[in-house]
Formats: sequence, structure tokens, C-alpha cells
Amino acid sequence: MTTTDLPEGALVPFTVYIDFESGDLTPDPVVLRRGLADLAGYFLSDVETATPADGDMYSVHEIRVPATNNNLLSSTTVLQPGKVGDEYFMTKGHFHATRDRAEIYLTLSGQGLLVMALEDGTTETKEMRPGIVNYVPGHWAHRSVNTGDEPLVFYAVYIGDAGYDYATIAEQGFPVIVVEGERGPEIVANPRYRRA
Ligand SMILES: [Fe+2]
Repeated sequence: MTTTDLPEGALVPFTVYIDFESGDLTPDPVVLRRGLADLAGYFLSDVETATPADGDMYSVHEIRVPATNNNLLSSTTVLQPGKVGDEYFMTKGHFHATRDRAEIYLTLSGQGLLVMALEDGTTETKEMRPGIVNYVPGHWAHRSVNTGDEPLVFYAVYIGDAGYDYATIAEQGFPVIVVEGERGPEIVANPRYRRA
């Protein structure tokens, strides 16, 4: 088939292999890496107190297609285990720039929590472990937190024109944070959260 045969907006079908343990994609992923310095200000404690103190906190491996509402964007995320103070390593988290766009998460390995929040401060937190599908409806900001000892690996699929609004979370934080308590992970109010 040549591309001249395709209807307008259509792509040639393709296949990608995902390694569930490592999150690696084959072939040709676009990989974004986020280290401790990228997460400065997202935790209550200084990221310089993190354990482990170096390396990537997480990486995102994208399957690139045009970011339009007739396509599905998808990626694997590999979130390393660790803590900054009492808080577990986590992704920055975002609203979708187009607020009503939904997303699906499928956890492939590891364990964690998916923290979601509406702009009015309402929160929902759901478990992430292999085989669990988390449905994130539109309007819910979302952040994943690795509460285990191994990398948390998940596959996410979302509508192509969803876009990202990281700034709102960077300014306001999430209403809750996930900390290590005496009996494991605890979801507690974020003392630095401020609503718009
Ligand atoms: Fe998203």
C-alpha cells in the first residue's frame, strides 16, 4: 500500500512491542527523562534529600502519532522506587490542556497509587498493580506514585488532542500526597496545596 491510497488523516497500521518489566518499546520510542532536578519543588522536602540520590526518577516512552483527536497517543512510563523525605517518588502529574479528555492506564509491573484531583480539590486515589486498568475521566488531574520496591511500569492511552497542563499542578500541587507511614503508604492532606 502506498500512502496515496490512504483516506485523509489515516495512518498506515503499525505494531509496537512492549517489554512489561522494563517498559521499553521496540522500535523507535521517543524517550523523555525526568530526574530529581526536574522535580524540584514538587515534594515537601528538598529533592537533594532523595534516596536514591541520582539517576532518572522516571522516563516516558512514547509511541508517536499526530496529536489530533482522530488518533490515540500512548506511552509507557517507568517510575523508579525511592523517596524524597517521607514522600514516594512520583510523576509531576497534569491536567489535560483540553480538560474533558479521558485517559486509560494499564499497570504492567510494580505497584503504586494513582492520585487524581478535580480543580475544586476533590480527590480520588486508586491502586496500581499488574493487570489493573485505571480509567481517568476527563477533568481529573492525574499523578502516579511508586509505593513499592521495584520500578512501576504502566501503559497509558489518551485522545490525541488532550495536551498537557503541567503549570496548574506546579503552582497548586495536589490536594493530597502519599507518604510512607508506620504500616505502609498513607494518603494525607498536602499542607502546601492551594486552590486557584
Ligand atoms: Fe494525561
